Amino acid sequence: MTATTATPTGLPAHDRAALRREAARVLLTNWTGTSTVPSRTLYPHQWSWDSAFIAIGLRHLSPRRAQRELETLLGAQWADGRVPHIVFNPAVPLGAYFPSPDFWQSSTAGRAAGAPSGVETSGIVQPPVHALAAALVHERDPECSRRRGFLERVYPRLVAWHAYLLRERDFTGHGLASIVHPWESGMDNSPCWNGPLRKVVPVPAVSFRRADLVHSDPADRPTDLDYGRYVRLAADYRGHGYRDAGTPHAFAVEDPGFNALLIASEHALAGIAAALGRDPRPHRARAEALTDSLVRHLWQPHAGMFLCRDVRADRVIEEKSVTGLLPLVAPSLPDHVASALSRTARGEHFGLGSTTALVPSYDLRGDAFDPSRYWCGPAWFNINWVVERGLRLHGATAEADALRRAVLDAAGASRFAEYVDPHTGRGRGATDFGWTAAVAIDLLARHAHDRDQDRDRNQDHGRDQDRRERR
Ligand code: SER
Repeated sequence: MTATTATPTGLPAHDRAALRREAARVLLTNWTGTSTVPSRTLYPHQWSWDSAFIAIGLRHLSPRRAQRELETLLGAQWADGRVPHIVFNPAVPLGAYFPSPDFWQSSTAGRAAGAPSGVETSGIVQPPVHALAAALVHERDPECSRRRGFLERVYPRLVAWHAYLLRERDFTGHGLASIVHPWESGMDNSPCWNGPLRKVVPVPAVSFRRADLVHSDPADRPTDLDYGRYVRLAADYRGHGYRDAGTPHAFAVEDPGFNALLIASEHALAGIAAALGRDPRPHRARAEALTDSLVRHLWQPHAGMFLCRDVRADRVIEEKSVTGLLPLVAPSLPDHVASALSRTARGEHFGLGSTTALVPSYDLRGDAFDPSRYWCGPAWFNINWVVERGLRLHGATAEADALRRAVLDAAGASRFAEYVDPHTGRGRGATDFGWTAAVAIDLLARHAHDRDQDRDRNQDHGRDQDRRERR
């Protein structure tokens, strides 16, 4: 490949210095003073899992700001331990995003469940990547973290967050957390949810006004029918005071990706506990128990991957979504499971390294595959960051290196797109997207770190050889 490969508007694929500069510009532009918006246009508030990924990149620019990002989010935690999926910025006009704070009504409808009174939030959650992010933020500058008492402040909140998920959301007794809304998976319109959503009666499209379509091509976004069902589920939850025990939850799913990130975060909590001089063993034991449950209940050998479980119908959902590859990020996955996942990622359904450079969000061969529509096929950067980490963790170094290069190329070429067509790499959705810039910065930093280590290793090797020759 030549040094000038670029899309008409993208960055040259191999100018890594320009890539870092531009990614930093995105994060600086999206910073509000206390947190980072995923996108100035499409998502003008603070989103939970976006913030976790953003902090992972931001730590390389400003460890202090990365700490603040997570602390702002955790500052809006509910008394029951849930970390809301959106923290609303009161300065943003209500019409700029739907559903807005006046739909969720957290401070009133959520009062009994422990919603904070000083800030408006949504009432649902998103994947628990936060403890992993907090550990990585601490690691980047332990001195600054200790001076600011960062871990002391976030640890009890992260513990309460995980406890909420395992106390209130284990509907099956499997020891796994269920999601109660497609938005909770972070993969809103994944075809996995079509089956479980069929029984949910959509509210009429005329009863709400979508703000996303003002900023994005409707062909890239969920449909109005999807939205009708999202609104119905959220309104029902709100109608029950956001209390899990009291809500019938027409939609309840055990999602492997959500639980895999909980496992990675529980391991991270063990590291945080140890750094604070506390006992890490309960966290390790919980992470191992979660891993066992995940494999026992959601691993599907016939698919070569994990599949979701529809809790209401008590049925496996026979759809291949990238969520079923995310357990690669669990360190103590049995070897045969980890190798099968890596094979499946490279096989015909996800095409990694052959028909696709980045893992798509959904089965290339699935009936509902659409290369442009949000979580029905496009490749997402945060997800590829998780897969890269998982491949590396389980020894697939060459695949991880190739994926890292592909993520960096695609991030620059698409001007930090929200997601890309997995076949062409063409950007879709918003540009200057927060977590796309953040994971690019993180992968660049780790690339530089690995290169330095290789250089040191080669120098040591050279010195050893000199010594041997002199002898
Ligand atoms: N991702 C959702 C949206 O598109 C909600 O978190 O607004």
